Amino acid sequence: MRAWLALLLAAGAQAGDVERGRALLADRTQSLCLLCHALTATGDANQGNLAPPLAAAAARWSPPELRERIADMRRFNPATVMPPFRSTDGLRDVAPAWAGRAALTEQQLDDLVAYLGTLARP
Ligand code: HEC
Repeated sequence: MRAWLALLLAAGAQAGDVERGRALLADRTQSLCLLCHALTATGDANQGNLAPPLAAAAARWSPPELRERIADMRRFNPATVMPPFRSTDGLRDVAPAWAGRAALTEQQLDDLVAYLGTLARP
């Protein structure tokens, strides 16, 4: 196999999956996003309203920018209430089962960003 094709396949294997991202975002036991965020500006009774709608954020930020905000919003707002989904730095009173573990994996972050990208399109 040509090297470039192998590289392309390897990159594809790690790309975010829109359907997995959609399921993860809707799953309050895992992602918690909808506890604070609504998906769109019109909101939903079952979605949060203390954080900006995710569709608006997806329209404003590129995939890498979204990714770093979800990974650790404290980089942009040290006083944020948003949990750092890819960091354990500075956390206190973490349940023993989660000690030293980030809330989401790199793959889950990619899946979320892939799904958020679909919300940004009109
Ligand atoms: C405890 C509440 C809370 C949870 C849970 C939460 N967020 Fe947030 N998020 C916020 C707040 C509040 C902001 C607004 C900026 C700030 O205060 O840091 C924000 C900002 C953001 C931004 C940047 C928005 C912008 O327009 O700049 C993105 C993207 C985002 N959140 C995505 C997510 C995703 C995806 C999840 C789930 C994996 C999530 N958030 C979970 C509270 C939360």
